[in-house]
Amino acid sequence: MIQLFHLFKNFGPSIALGDLNLRVHEGEFVFVTGPSGAGKTTLLRLIFGAEIPTSGHILINGVNLSRISRLKLDLLRRKIGFVFQDFKLLPKKTVFENVALALEVTGEHPSFIRKRTHRTLKLVGLAEKEKAYPLQLSGGEQQRVAIARAIVKDPLILLADEPTGNLDSDLTKDIMILFRSIHLKGTTVVIATHSRELLEDTAQRTVFLHNGRIVGKK
Ligand SMILES: Nc1ncnc2c1ncn2[C@@H]1O[C@H](COP(=O)(O)OP(=O)(O)OP(=O)(O)O)[C@@H](O)[C@H]1O
Ligand SMILES: [Mg+2]
Repeated sequence: MIQLFHLFKNFGPSIALGDLNLRVHEGEFVFVTGPSGAGKTTLLRLIFGAEIPTSGHILINGVNLSRISRLKLDLLRRKIGFVFQDFKLLPKKTVFENVALALEVTGEHPSFIRKRTHRTLKLVGLAEKEKAYPLQLSGGEQQRVAIARAIVKDPLILLADEPTGNLDSDLTKDIMILFRSIHLKGTTVVIATHSRELLEDTAQRTVFLHNGRIVGKK
């Protein structure tokens, strides 16, 4: 479960998040939406422990992120998949290596890593591009590598920041089907998006942010 209590995040004088309270239950699927600058990325980065709140608390499965050691935070992060809005792929590593790396840190057996990486790249439709380097790929392909990297380790929590921003409508549908199947396996999924397309045909729980505050829920 993810619990946020009176969360504030300032960047200098600008307030990215103001008094945010939210609870996401284990196995839930939630959209976070709102206009550009509303605080969606900041919110996901805080949950991932990549940003420290100015005040307030973040609890992941009952563990307060501000009270744990760096080592414990790293261990916790291994259970969280993060699809970054700007992908953050390693340019000097191939598509395959970028995805496999997420498993290598967990110390899995090389043959397991190979199989798992192949399978995940196939799931996102990139089996043919395994040997390519990120900069040889289109934006949508890079985005799918970022998705593969986040899901390859079967995370307990999947945080996806605008994961379909570079995809056409057919691929968007495929990726949403993939996210739903991951959710059905028990993963907690939080997706930040301003895509109307994603939000329109869904009855999913949705949190609306504006100027760093929750202004609505569905
Ligand atoms: N590292 C930073 N330094 C300074 N200001 C920041 C930083 N990160 C975010 N902000 C500010 O915090 C606010 C929220 O930004 P955030 O990236 O969370 O918005 P967002 O909802 O993800 O927007 P978008 O839809 O454009 O991705 C913005 O006003 C932004 O300028
Ligand atoms: Mg953002």
